[in-house]
Amino acid sequence: MAGTKLKVGVLVSGRGSNLQALIDACADPAFPVEIVHVLSNVAGAYALERAEKAGIATSVLSHRDFDGRDSFDAALDARLRDVGVEFVCLAGFMRLLTEGFVGKWQDRLINIHPSLLPSFKGLHTHERALELGVKVHGCTVHFVRPATDEGPIIVQAAVPVLPGDTPDTLGARVLEQEHRAYPLALRLVAEGRAKVVGNVVEIVGGQADNTRLLNPGK
Ligand code: GRF
Repeated sequence: MAGTKLKVGVLVSGRGSNLQALIDACADPAFPVEIVHVLSNVAGAYALERAEKAGIATSVLSHRDFDGRDSFDAALDARLRDVGVEFVCLAGFMRLLTEGFVGKWQDRLINIHPSLLPSFKGLHTHERALELGVKVHGCTVHFVRPATDEGPIIVQAAVPVLPGDTPDTLGARVLEQEHRAYPLALRLVAEGRAKVVGNVVEIVGGQADNTRLLNPGK
């Protein structure tokens, strides 16, 4: 398998727990991915420490050093190509990407979002889920398209909303599933099993495994 692994770059802005889940997955020699670079737009993000601890090259590109989204995204694109990234994972990257960037990485760019899309696009998903009284919540890994939090869905994991939940307790329950869903989605992509067909992803080789994680575990 060595030599044929997909070379992935992970973009982060904060604590990097999803990055950690991907790093941990890559520790399995059978996992078909190598994280070759972690890039943050925020200096000092804890995610960078996680990467360094795992021996992964890092860089910081601060959006504050650029005069607009186009120039920042052009520099981001150049950096990713320079370091040999073939595929990009957004993991808590708190920047909106331009249509130009998304187009260049079409179907080679995925994101994790803490809701069952298309519900609750944007920020504060757990608060909004509680306000609306939904009974099921969760997370989504999807291919990125220019419109924020839209794009073909690869994996979703659902959790129950329980009486007495706060945004923190619900968020923690979702996060636990994010850490399962993201490695699973990336593996499917790296194995060539997540095929984009129009607006949807077809999983090649059957759905019998846990590609649909409905109310998993506890
Ligand atoms: C996660 O909830 C992810 O779904 C969202 O941002 C958060 C990042 O958390 N896009 P972490 O930095 O991976 O811990």
